[in-house]
Amino acid sequence: MSTRSPPDACTLLDSDHRNVKKLFNQYDEISGSKAKSSMQTRRELAEQICLELTVHAQVEEEIFYPAVRAAIKEHDLLDEAEVEHASVKDLITQIQGASEVDDMFDAKVKVLGEYIDHHVKEERNEMFPKARASKLDLIAMREELQVRKEQLMTELEGANA
Ligand SMILES: [Fe+2]
Ligand SMILES: [Fe+2]
Repeated sequence: MSTRSPPDACTLLDSDHRNVKKLFNQYDEISGSKAKSSMQTRRELAEQICLELTVHAQVEEEIFYPAVRAAIKEHDLLDEAEVEHASVKDLITQIQGASEVDDMFDAKVKVLGEYIDHHVKEERNEMFPKARASKLDLIAMREELQVRKEQLMTELEGANA
């Protein structure tokens, strides 16, 4: 992407991707430790990762994916992305339901990170370029995504409080 193009829907989604990658890296650095303080931090990081990913996946499914599906011919890209989201949600449910921060918990977070790396690569390298080459107004969509993200974040944070 040219640095001169204005930020659009894909820029926003990719900044979510980078943000969550940082959280996965932070988790990875302290993964495996038996210290109580580490377990607490891992639980908090995992909860943050799950929250961010849930909101991100939902705005993609509500706004971005349907618009891209209507605008491009390569529907297999969208089909695969939706299947991947289902696997991601399943792991998120397992992580959120886990009672112990143990080796299995670390393994779940690690596998979630690997799924996300793979999924993000496809969005970044295949889906976003096709969306940008289409007639979609991605600059207007950026605003729509931002508004919906904030709504969902408030709702979900409220539900978890
Ligand atoms: Fe994404
Ligand atoms: Fe996605």
